[in-house]
Amino acid sequence: MTEYQNLDTLNTPGSVFFIFGATGDLARRKLFPAIYSLYREGKLSEDFAVIGVARRPRTQDEFREDVYQSIQEFGRYRSDLNEEWNTFAQHFEYKSLDINNIDGFRELREQTESLETKFGIPGNRLFYLALAPELFGSVSFNLMKGGMLDGAGWNRLVIEKPFGYDLESAAKLNEEINQVFKEEEIYRIDHYLGKEMVQNIEVIRFANAFFEPLWNNKHIANVQITLGETVGVEERGGYYDNAGALRDMGQNHMLQMLTMIAMEPPSRLLPEDIRDEKVKVLRSLRPYASSDDVAENVVRGQYTKGSAGGKELTAYREEDKVHPESNTETYFAARLFVDNFRWAGIPFYIRTGKRLPVKTTEVVVEFKRMPGNVYLGQKHSLEPNLLVIRVNPMEGLYVKINAKKPGSESEIEPVAMDFCQSCLVGINSPEAYERLLHDAARGDHTYFTRWDEVASAWSFVDKIAQSWRENQGQLEHYPAGSWGPQKADELLQKDGFHWWPVNGQDEDKVIWNKGAN
Ligand code: BG6
Repeated sequence: MTEYQNLDTLNTPGSVFFIFGATGDLARRKLFPAIYSLYREGKLSEDFAVIGVARRPRTQDEFREDVYQSIQEFGRYRSDLNEEWNTFAQHFEYKSLDINNIDGFRELREQTESLETKFGIPGNRLFYLALAPELFGSVSFNLMKGGMLDGAGWNRLVIEKPFGYDLESAAKLNEEINQVFKEEEIYRIDHYLGKEMVQNIEVIRFANAFFEPLWNNKHIANVQITLGETVGVEERGGYYDNAGALRDMGQNHMLQMLTMIAMEPPSRLLPEDIRDEKVKVLRSLRPYASSDDVAENVVRGQYTKGSAGGKELTAYREEDKVHPESNTETYFAARLFVDNFRWAGIPFYIRTGKRLPVKTTEVVVEFKRMPGNVYLGQKHSLEPNLLVIRVNPMEGLYVKINAKKPGSESEIEPVAMDFCQSCLVGINSPEAYERLLHDAARGDHTYFTRWDEVASAWSFVDKIAQSWRENQGQLEHYPAGSWGPQKADELLQKDGFHWWPVNGQDEDKVIWNKGAN
C-alpha cells in the first residue's frame, strides 16, 4: 500500500469470508449485519462468498434464513425477501464441521473451490474465528492441514478477544497461531478501534491547529476515560467470572483508547507507523512498583444489589454462572502515568464498570486552569477548559469554554461548543464491525492490534492482577446502579481533581450540554 492511497476508495478484492462460529451470537448480532451493510453500500466486491462454519447441522436454506433473520433484527439496513435479497443470499453457504476433524476441512476446501469458481473469486480467503480463543490454535493448524491455505490468493486470520488471560497464555496462543499465520496475516480485533469516534481521535488531534500545540503536559492537567455500562454480566457469567473488568475491558479497549490520546504523531499515516507509536505509549506506561503502589492507584469493585429506574437489580454474586463468593471485579478505576516528555507528570484516570447508571464512553481532556492571580482569575473562580470526546452511544465532541453570562455585568459561565455527530448521521453511523471487516478484507491493519501491543498491554495489566491475587481484601463493593466505589473519587481528589460528570450531566441537572442525551 502506498502512503497516499486513499483507503476509502480502495475496493475490497474478491474474497471468501469464512465465519467460524456461524451459529453463535457474534455472527448473528454483528457479522452478518455488517456484511449486508457493506454489500448495500457497494463496499464489497461483487465476487464474494461467505461460508458459515459451525458444528450443528443446517441446510443451506436454513442458514440463509438465519442470516436473513439476523439482518432484520440487528442490521442498519433491512431487506425484503425480494430479488435483491435472493442475489445476496446466493453468496452464502453453510458447512457443518467438527473442527477437530481434518476430513471436514478437506470437504470445506472442495466447497470453497467450487464457490470460487462459481463467483470468479481469485482465491483470497479471510478466516474469521468467532470462537473461544482455546480453539484458535487447532483451527489454524487444521486449516493448514486441510489444504485451506493453498488457494491462489491471500489468507487472513481475524480473531476476537480475549487474546489470552495474561502475558504467558497470550504468548503461547500467539506462538500456536504463528506456526500457521504470519503476523501480517493476523488481524486481532479490538472492536473499540472500529468505533467512529475512536478513529476520529487521530483526526481531531492531528488536523486541528488549536489542539496539537496544547496536547502536552504544559497545557493539559489530566485525561479521564470513562467506559460505563448499565448492563450486568447477562448470560456471560461463566466467561466474565474468570476474566473480570480489568481483563475484559482494561487490557484492551481502555488501554487502546489511551494510546490513541497519548501517542506521538506518526511519521507517516501508514498502519505500521501508527501502531509503532501506540506501542511506544504502552511501553512508556509507568509500571506499578509494588502491591502498595497498586493499592494506592487502582480501585477494584464489585456490584451488590441495587436499583435503577425503579427496577431492582441483583448482586453480581447472584448472577447466573457466577460463583456465590466470587471476588471478581466488575469495576475498576486506575491512575496511570505515561512517562515520556509529552506527558511527564500528567495523570490519566480510567474507569469502567458494569451496572453503572449510564451507558457511555467518554474521554475528557481537562486543560490547566488560567492563572488565578491575574485579570479575570482574580475575581472569578474560572472553570478549566475541557475537550470532551463522546465515543458511545452518542458520538460527537464538545469544548467547554468560559464566556460572559448574557445580560450580567461581569458574571462568567461555562458554555459548550458542541458538535453532535450522531445528531447528523443518526443511527446510520457504520458499526465498528463493518469498518473492521472492510479493513481486514482490504488488508489495512491500522485498527487491529499488533502482537507487541497486546504483549505490552498484558505485561502492564499482569502487575495489577498479580497484586490483586496476593491481596484479596482489595475488593470494594458498590450498589448496582451507582457510580462505583467512593475510593475511585479519592484517586482524583488527592491530585485536586474530580471526575467530570458524563454526558455533561450531574444527575438530573444538565450542566453545560443541551439535548445530547
Ligand atoms: C466487550 C466486553 O469487549 O465490550 C463486554 O467483553 C462489553 O463485556 C462490551 O459489554 C462493550 O462494548 P460496547 O461497544 O457495547 O461499548
